[in-house]
Amino acid sequence: MSHATLAFDKNALDVRSDFPSLTQSVNGQTLVYLDSAASAQQPNTVIEAVQQYHEHDHANVHRGVHSLSHRATEAYEGARDKLCGFLNAASRREIVLTSGTTESINLVAQSFCRPRISAGEQILITHMEHHSNIVPWQILCEQTGAELVVAPIDNRGQLDTDALRELLTEKVFLLAIGHVSNALGSVNPVREIISWAKDLDIPVLVDGAQAVPHMAVDVKDLDCDFYAFSGHKMLGPTGTGVLYGREALLEDMPPWQGGGDMILEVRFDGTVYNDLPYKFEAGTPNISGVVGLGSAVDYLQAIGLTRIAQHEQALLEYMTGQLAGIDGLRLIGTAREKASVQSFLVDDIHPHDLGTILDHQGVAIRTGHHCAMPVMDFFNVPGTARASLALYNDRDDIDRLVAAIRKAQEIFA
Ligand code: ALA
Repeated sequence: MSHATLAFDKNALDVRSDFPSLTQSVNGQTLVYLDSAASAQQPNTVIEAVQQYHEHDHANVHRGVHSLSHRATEAYEGARDKLCGFLNAASRREIVLTSGTTESINLVAQSFCRPRISAGEQILITHMEHHSNIVPWQILCEQTGAELVVAPIDNRGQLDTDALRELLTEKVFLLAIGHVSNALGSVNPVREIISWAKDLDIPVLVDGAQAVPHMAVDVKDLDCDFYAFSGHKMLGPTGTGVLYGREALLEDMPPWQGGGDMILEVRFDGTVYNDLPYKFEAGTPNISGVVGLGSAVDYLQAIGLTRIAQHEQALLEYMTGQLAGIDGLRLIGTAREKASVQSFLVDDIHPHDLGTILDHQGVAIRTGHHCAMPVMDFFNVPGTARASLALYNDRDDIDRLVAAIRKAQEIFA
C-alpha cells in the first residue's frame, strides 16, 4: 500500500449520507459533485434548520415584542455568536453579516478606504484574485485617483512573495489578498504576509471565501484587519456571508448603506447610527440564510476543520496524481501549498465541451474563467476545467472523474 493510500484511508471521512443532494442521479448516473468551490452542497442539518425557521420561527429580527420575533432574533444572533467562535474573533461586534464575500469586500472599499485614501496611494492585490477582490478596488481607484498595484505569480500559480514584499511600501494604503485562489487552489502564506504589512502599519483584508470550508481560520492568530467570506461555499445557504473587521477600525468607519436597523435615532436634522455590528446591517437581513449558516458552522465544527483539511489534502493529492496520469491532460496550478482545487485542460477539447460531456456522465465540474480572468490571461488560456473538493468527496468520485475524462478523449479522438 502506498503512503498516499495509507494517508487517505486514515483520514477518510464518512459524511456523504448527510448530504441528500448527493444521492440523486444526474443523466442516469449517481451524481459526482466536484464544483464545491463554486457552491458547496448542504447537509441535512442546514436544510432542516432553515425549514424549522420557516415553519415555526419566521418573523423580523430586532423589531418585535412577540414570541416569533424573539425566536427569529435569537436564532439570527445565535448564528453570529457561532461565527464569532468559528473565527476566534475577539467580539461579536466584529462579525458583520453580509450577503457574501463580494458585499464584504465592497463594504471595506467604500466605507474603510474611500473616505481615507488619497490620489496616488495604492491598493495592493495579487494576480490570482477573484474578480470580487479586483473590481471593488478598481471602482475605488476610479473614485479617488488611487492606484491598483498587482503582485505577480509564477508559472505554477504561486504568489511571488518576494515581489509582493517589495511592493509593500509606505504608498500602500491597504493590501487585499486571497487566502486560497479559487481558480488555482494556491494557498497564500497570509500569516507571514500580514506580519510584513503590520511592520509598515498597512491594513490587510483577506478574501477567505475558498479557505473557510477547508481549514481552520483564526483571525487573532492571522492578525488580519478584515476577513471576508461567503456562507454558500461552507455548506450554508446562498446570500449569506461575513465581514470580520477589527473592532477599532469598524468603530471608526461610516455606515455602508442607510436604512432600518442601522440606526438608533432618526431625525430630519440628523441620524444617530446603531452600535457595531448593526451600523453595517441596514434593512431586513437574510434571516433564514443566516440561521442555516449558523447550522453549517455547527456541522463543520462537529467534524473538525483539522480532520476536514487532512481528508481533503489526501484526496487532492490523489486527484492530482490521477489527473497527471492522463495523457494529454495539462494541470494548471501546481503550487506547493494547495487546497481542494485543481484546474486542467485536456488535449484541445474546449473546457465547456469537456464539462458538458462530463455532465452527461453525472460528473459536475466548473468550466470557464472562474471569475478570475487575469489568471486565465496569465496562463494564456480562455478558461480551464476545474474540479474542486469538499469534505463529502471520496476516491470513488475521483475515479469517476478520470473515467469520464477518458471517455471524453475517446469521443474527441
Ligand atoms: N467564486 C466561485 C467559483 O470559484 C463562483 O466558482
